[in-house]
Amino acid sequence: MLEKFENLHGLKRTDRCGTLSAKDIGREVTVMGFVDSERNLGGLLFVNLRDISGIVQLFFDTANEELVKKASTVRSEFVLAARGVVCARGEGAVNKNMPTGEIEINVSELRILNKAKTPPFYIVENSDVKEELRLKYRYLDLRRPDMQRKLILRHKVAKIARDFFDENGFLEIETPMLNKSTPEGARDYLVPSRVKNGCFYALPQSPQLYKQLLMLSGMDRYFQIARCFRDEDLRADRQPEFTQIDIEMSFVEQDDVMNVNEKFIARVFKEILGVEVKTPFLRMPYSEAMSRYGSDKPDTRFGMELTDVSDLVKDCGFKVFSDAVANGGSVRLINAKNLADKISRKNIDALGEFAKTYKAKGLAWVKHTAEGIQSPIAKFFSEDEMNKILERANCEENDVLLFVADKNKVVFDTLGALRCEVAKRYDLIDENKFNLLWVTDFPLLEYSEEEGRYVAMHHPFTHPADEDLDKLDTEPQNVRAKAYDIILNGVELGGGSIRIYNSDLQEKMFEVLGLTKEEAESKFGFLVEAFKYGAPPHGGMAYGFDRFVMLLTKSASIRDVIAFPKVQNASELMTNAPDVVDAKQLEELGIELVKKDEKEEN
Ligand code: AMO
Ligand code: AMP
Repeated sequence: MLEKFENLHGLKRTDRCGTLSAKDIGREVTVMGFVDSERNLGGLLFVNLRDISGIVQLFFDTANEELVKKASTVRSEFVLAARGVVCARGEGAVNKNMPTGEIEINVSELRILNKAKTPPFYIVENSDVKEELRLKYRYLDLRRPDMQRKLILRHKVAKIARDFFDENGFLEIETPMLNKSTPEGARDYLVPSRVKNGCFYALPQSPQLYKQLLMLSGMDRYFQIARCFRDEDLRADRQPEFTQIDIEMSFVEQDDVMNVNEKFIARVFKEILGVEVKTPFLRMPYSEAMSRYGSDKPDTRFGMELTDVSDLVKDCGFKVFSDAVANGGSVRLINAKNLADKISRKNIDALGEFAKTYKAKGLAWVKHTAEGIQSPIAKFFSEDEMNKILERANCEENDVLLFVADKNKVVFDTLGALRCEVAKRYDLIDENKFNLLWVTDFPLLEYSEEEGRYVAMHHPFTHPADEDLDKLDTEPQNVRAKAYDIILNGVELGGGSIRIYNSDLQEKMFEVLGLTKEEAESKFGFLVEAFKYGAPPHGGMAYGFDRFVMLLTKSASIRDVIAFPKVQNASELMTNAPDVVDAKQLEELGIELVKKDEKEEN
């Protein structure tokens, strides 16, 4: 027998819980929500009812025995509808910490719409419950007010994007999810075709090609809040399935794209945080970002910039340093200012271990204390050499210099990361700052040791800098791109470029990337063909929407701003996706499974 349960039966909600206040005193209202807590104070019964707007206190008058009896069966997370009159709370019962703390509802009718099992964790603000459990019961986790606020803010940013780009002549156009696989970039997620047996669609890594084709179609300006899929290793700011605010514009150059996007970003900051950001943003060439910060996404909220001492140490007695320079690498340092009393030997060892995760072979150091210079490498330097290093590094008493000697890539990667790590560990970051800048003039190509060829640093459709076109054949490594990234507090918020719109140049680019004519034709033939029918100059960019919301909400992880995110191994803990499928489904698709060698898998 089904247990009898109550339903709405025409009862209408008049107000949301959190919106009631003293101005409503005397009104009869109907509220609906979840039981946040219930208290029985010597026969006086109170229930805190929660909905997305907040919490309101329900009060049950002891005179109404039936009602009190019913109300006393109520437990946490039960779903209720309550009708009653808004009353002022008695003197002393006012709760200043609660927006609705001046009032309560004197309930005359209560409906228990649903019961609830005891939840596996408390539904409270800023829960410290393990994320695994939160994700397994995500629907309960999302009942927590801080999570609801994040998703509300996410909605608002999406709304601003739609309004802003609409007002600026952009059209929102959807592009397909089932696409042709064009592996350049991350690994594709594949979807087998039943009808075209043996063939696969790829889920889009981004709408890149379609948005370019829309410019060829004369759509002029496009935007989309687009879902993207990339089968890559996850980190705190990456998901296999994520969202871009994706835009493309015709008849533009780099400045035009940047200008309109600065206005968009400024509007988001103003409307969401009430913060005025100054435009235009700082623009920094890639080479400068690398040499000053060791990173193409510099966090400029603190200093500790890199100092190159290669010329000072190239002939020194410390072979690690002189060899690095002789082998075409460099020796650079950061100065952890005024931290010598805080960074112990043990701390330096820990930073050394951190440095090794970036492939550095060691972390040399110099401490300037009241007793003088302490350093395991001091013995290799003459007094004059050491003084020159100290001077170059602006090293004063209580400073610590941290050195890495290696190939430039390792030096930059290590010191770039170490700089942020030191800032984090020793509290050098002003969390109230929002530092925005463009990094420009990226190299067009980077050499992939793994593939033994050049790969596009951004993507193969990025236009080379006009003045570098001649170098495509002779020194491809020195060709710069018309590409730009927008950086917020050391995170790549988005990126884009001016595109190639000439079929010959696009073919040339495929050739430089080592694609044979046949490969280029089979993968991108449609694009090159399209360029032959009149392609306007165009360019655009895409924001990582989840990252943007993560930064605006100061969340530690991108998962906190996604309703149903995936975890490290790209699975979803609530539904257990991905999961095995029926033999029949596979048969229809003509797919036979081969067990992957376990060793291979790890
Ligand atoms: P790109 O690959 O740089 O460019 O992606 C644009 C932005 O998307 C975000 N992003 C991610 N966010 C979460 N999880 C991920 N796995 C992930 N990967 C990328 C980043 C990044 O800056 N089509 C081009 C854009 C263009 O040229 O217009 C593109 O996709 O914030
Ligand atoms: P060693 O002479 O090998 O004991 O190294 C002396 C110091 O130099 C130690 O603090 C090492 O961590 C450091 N060191 C070793 N290799 C490097 C390197 N490639 N770059 C910077 N420091 C290094």
